[in-house]
Amino acid sequence: MLNAEAVSSSSMSGTCASRDISRELSRDAQVFFDRLAETWDHIAHHPRERVERVLGTLGTLQGKMVVDVGTGTGVLIPYLASRVGPEGSILALDLSPRMIEVARAKHRADNLSFEVADFLDWQATRPADVIIAYSCFPHFDEPGAFWDSAARNLVDGGLALVAHIEGRIRINAMHGTRAPGVSHPLPPARELAAMAERRGFETLSLADEEDAYLVLARLDRGAFHRSYFLQSPQSPEK
Ligand SMILES: C[S@@+](CC[C@H](N)C(=O)[O-])C[C@H]1O[C@@H](n2cnc3c(N)ncnc32)[C@H](O)[C@@H]1O
Repeated sequence: MLNAEAVSSSSMSGTCASRDISRELSRDAQVFFDRLAETWDHIAHHPRERVERVLGTLGTLQGKMVVDVGTGTGVLIPYLASRVGPEGSILALDLSPRMIEVARAKHRADNLSFEVADFLDWQATRPADVIIAYSCFPHFDEPGAFWDSAARNLVDGGLALVAHIEGRIRINAMHGTRAPGVSHPLPPARELAAMAERRGFETLSLADEEDAYLVLARLDRGAFHRSYFLQSPQSPEK
């Protein structure tokens, strides 16, 4: 949960474009979140029981390779570390180098690695079992590009989770006033799930409530290819 006043006090101006990041919204988000990195842990609050509830939807993560997209200062890392165990691994990814610096200073483990990248254009060296976008989806340039990247970077049968511990209406109102240039409104969870389904995901769980927003989907490449050959060609959809 975000202390919106604190966010607004760090205004966005100018850009320090990264050559690696081609999307304009991602470049602006990088500048925005670089500036917030040092104070992020005082601004954002993540009640343990709500985070546990979200991660609980994934079932066991023992031994899994998990990507924490938009890790920020790494709030999810301790939760994920205890869930994946020593046989699993975590890749904490963020487009803000400053966020990654802060996360790196706080968390260290043999099975934990960090990467600065725009997830939307990212290519994993090894496909993941689970991809989590916790509390970062509104900052993605294109919702469909998230699912494209998740489909590209997951093993078949892998899970993708988009989650917030606040409701969509509250999140959209907060971003509309406090982060207008670096966010899009969250769509209804059912619409987000439909985007995933068009890319070969099967929806496992949905929440679009006052205090929770969640889409959990499993990649099913076989079903996707079967349905592709049954359908007539269509123009690409978002
Ligand atoms: C609101 S913060 C949340 C950070 C963390 N998940 C938390 O809950 O404390 C959103 C984070 O997502 C990152 N981010 C936004 N767009 C991204 C993208 N396209 N690829 C990777 N990270 C992104 C931002 O840099 C920022 O650190």
